[in-house]
Amino acid sequence: MRVVILENAEAVAEFAALQFIHQVSGKPDSVLGLATGSTPLGTYGKLIKAHREGRISFRRVCTFNLDEYLGLSPDHSQSYHRFMRESLFDHIDISSGNTHVPRGDVNDIEKEIEEYERAIEAAGGIDLQLLGIGTDGHIAFNEPGSSLASRTRVKTLTRRTREDNARFFGSLDEVPKMALTMGIGTILESRSILLLACGEGKADAIQKTVEGPITSLVPGSALQLHSRVTIAVDIKAASKLSQLEYYADCERNRTELGKV
Ligand code: PGA
Repeated sequence: MRVVILENAEAVAEFAALQFIHQVSGKPDSVLGLATGSTPLGTYGKLIKAHREGRISFRRVCTFNLDEYLGLSPDHSQSYHRFMRESLFDHIDISSGNTHVPRGDVNDIEKEIEEYERAIEAAGGIDLQLLGIGTDGHIAFNEPGSSLASRTRVKTLTRRTREDNARFFGSLDEVPKMALTMGIGTILESRSILLLACGEGKADAIQKTVEGPITSLVPGSALQLHSRVTIAVDIKAASKLSQLEYYADCERNRTELGKV
């Protein structure tokens, strides 16, 4: 795992945006895996700015989001469809036909799941998958206890996740109890993965993800099985890592080798 420790959330967003710019300039028809939540917002802001400056075009890019709340229509104020339109898609040159977010409001959810997995495959698989992490170590909505081989499916949210996300809804009662989410197995098929985390509240989850044993109780730890993962965190989220000096050495050596 590549562990990149940066000064603050702004630097994490800058770093993440650069990884996307690098990916898309090398492969203009990249398939990008996108995430929601407060963490990727800074990255999306930087990408919008880079697009306006002519540093990145999404014209040939195709995207797949990780998850959606069960029961919310694409127009619901807290749906991830809406989040993506408002935070990114409406501000860049991406064709709406090339953006995919699972629908949580369809009658035939099994069909939706099957078609979502098939669409990822038909697009050639995900080149670069962006991830946040929950305070309980979840990635996408794969809560603790998720099979490390899981595929896209409906998952029950933990009380902790619902409490963490209640800030976006009027009250805890309004937070959906279930979500449709890519599985850990689905995520691990991405060709490269970039996980972002900022703030003290994520320090435990990051320590367990990077340095803990691989366990379904910390879904992020499954990323240790992937050969191209970058964990980009601010100093606060890195504060419980035991090998800080070594991670910094690795980064210095990468810079010497001229790697992005
Ligand atoms: P956050 O959520 O970015 O809002 O902290 C991350 C997550 O739950 O995956």
